[in-house]
Amino acid sequence: MIKFLGTNKLKTAVFISGNGSNLKNLIEFSLFKKLPIKISFIVSSNSNSKGLNFAKKYKIKSQIYKFNNKTKDENEILKYLKRNNISMICLAGFMKILSNNFIKKYSGTILNIHPSLLPKYRGLNTHRRAIENKEKFSGCTVHFVNSKLDSGKVVLQKRVKITNKDTPKSLSKKILKLEHLLYPKAILKVISNF
Ligand code: GRF
Repeated sequence: MIKFLGTNKLKTAVFISGNGSNLKNLIEFSLFKKLPIKISFIVSSNSNSKGLNFAKKYKIKSQIYKFNNKTKDENEILKYLKRNNISMICLAGFMKILSNNFIKKYSGTILNIHPSLLPKYRGLNTHRRAIENKEKFSGCTVHFVNSKLDSGKVVLQKRVKITNKDTPKSLSKKILKLEHLLYPKAILKVISNF
């Protein structure tokens, strides 16, 4: 299943739904900072995703799948991935839930980044919930994707202090910065274990 390119770069797809700052960061790490992956396919579940601009800018093949017919869309994606020898999938702000069938096919090679210290605060509104619960720390987690939401094995985590001035917005900004450091590191760690 794992296929490195001649140049030792692992062909990777990134799935997004929104702003795509993690996508941009991963593209730049792969192009300019020697992260040994080649992002060769971008899936967006949202036709207005700002992240699609980075696909254009860096001339990476992208495709919109709205997942209205999940089975059909997933089958098409799987076909594309297979035909193009894409071995790893990075979810980055991807707001759809992949089926078990899809996950099984790429078992052990789908990663996700989540803006909390998992297993705390799976799902949505992580920052608001962490602040309401008066947590002293929050952070972000890169984990393998399994059939349960935000529950796969943790690859790496990074934490940050929550101050009493923090709002969900300020915390989200702080954590996003950490995400941009953590995701490339986690990918490196996973790849070196292949
Ligand atoms: C990130 O906080 C990520 O952890 C979460 O959604 C946000 C996506 O940000 N799942 P971006 O689209 O990468 O800018």
